[in-house]
Amino acid sequence: MKKTIFYSIFYASLLLLSQCNGNKTNTQKLSDTEETDIPNLEEISSLEHKDDDIQIYTTKIGNDADKDHLTASFPVTSYDFVNTSEKEFTQKLINEFKTEVKNRKGENSISALDFNQHFEVKIHNKNILVFLYNQNVSSGNNYDDRHIVSAFDLKNKKKIRPQDWFKSAQDFKDFANEIKSLAKQEIQEKIKNDKSYANDEERQQVLNSIGETLTEGSLASDENYDALFPDEQGNWFVIFDKYQIASGAMGSFTIKIPKEIINQYISEEKLNLLREKTIESEAVIVNDTSKTPSKIDCSKVPCVALTFDDGPSIYTPELLDILKKEDVKATFFVLGKSASVQKNILKRIATEGHNIGNHSYDHKDFRKISESEARKQISLTDEIIKEITGEKPKYFRFPYGAHTKENLAMVGRPVMMWSVDPLDWKHKDINHLVKAMSNPDPQGIILAHDIHKTTVQAIPQVIKNLKAKGFHIVTLDDLFQHKKLEAGKNYSNGK
Ligand code: NI
Repeated sequence: MKKTIFYSIFYASLLLLSQCNGNKTNTQKLSDTEETDIPNLEEISSLEHKDDDIQIYTTKIGNDADKDHLTASFPVTSYDFVNTSEKEFTQKLINEFKTEVKNRKGENSISALDFNQHFEVKIHNKNILVFLYNQNVSSGNNYDDRHIVSAFDLKNKKKIRPQDWFKSAQDFKDFANEIKSLAKQEIQEKIKNDKSYANDEERQQVLNSIGETLTEGSLASDENYDALFPDEQGNWFVIFDKYQIASGAMGSFTIKIPKEIINQYISEEKLNLLREKTIESEAVIVNDTSKTPSKIDCSKVPCVALTFDDGPSIYTPELLDILKKEDVKATFFVLGKSASVQKNILKRIATEGHNIGNHSYDHKDFRKISESEARKQISLTDEIIKEITGEKPKYFRFPYGAHTKENLAMVGRPVMMWSVDPLDWKHKDINHLVKAMSNPDPQGIILAHDIHKTTVQAIPQVIKNLKAKGFHIVTLDDLFQHKKLEAGKNYSNGK
């Protein structure tokens, strides 16, 4: 069955649910989505800094946990045709979000819209680039996860559609047939191990009922195989999203395709492109942490901490230049997924003496995910940061600051909130931002995002103003130097 049909059913059931909850307070609607379109790419490609071959552009609409919001990233490379394609791809999600916001206007909604898009680099060599996107779309308490691959033939400057990998249309069909039986085994396995079924008879019934869904969902088409990808070890995978080949309750399926199967069908030309050596973004562990304890005593003098969330991004190098020039140390709450793409810049953040905090793997609202996923979001990000910088981050900040009591209890370290929010996702005006960030209370924590150009442009003047007012601009380590921080507790200033 087509994914769109499922989405319609999904939204229809949400509508029903929302009518049952008529007396619940409505989430406030976004009024100014117009300013948040992706800027033109000429501006992006004019950036001088290239610490990493692949950088990240992240766009954001809304940053309030209880209002509709979107955080979407796409890669920026040295290939214009790739950048244009990925920008257009992202614009589609933004348009979908805006339409959904409009459609829900005036309706009671059970929960705010939460749209996320982040990506991993699966292959990066001289000839081929492969990105795997994960779009997590939520209009209620659950996420609908979509996996989509963008693959590019850099030699011929062409996007590779799923069908383009294969020798012929017939090869694609034969391949799809083999995948169908592999998928069936996976489904059987999942049903067999699911203890929620009463008995084997019930299991057999469920298995019998999925026949048509499996057949339709695994037929050879670009839509069904929009998440087919090779990785750098020469393995191939296909991800079937929730509802695609089985009932929604069974979730998504990631199927590893044995080499002897895939290699029969993929064209020789594509296999040759893949044989090229991988371009590794060098990630040498930072051994020299060179952190001299600060001489500033924040229990005696006015201090303020600048914190930057949601990076690293294409604007982070410029921000680091500014901080270096002004001799200011800050704190970066990074996303694990973005850190794994811009490894060199993460290394630079650590080497230059800034603090690095954990801001989750891909920015989901923790109130909407299971405990096991929440733990994975944190531990995966810890691992990525530790691998690059040699240190596990000491602080955690929830995406949108949103969390439950249970979330707070499992973080295992102090949780950082903020005392100043300039709403920099919304106000793309340097003067406005300078004003909003220049009047903190002593020992305050300023929340900014190094994914916005205007935020980075405002920082030099913010630093000047704060210094002129006698503030010492410090890292969180320095701000809390004299305080005993507790795991699972919220801190929004250093008082
Ligand atoms: Ni964030």
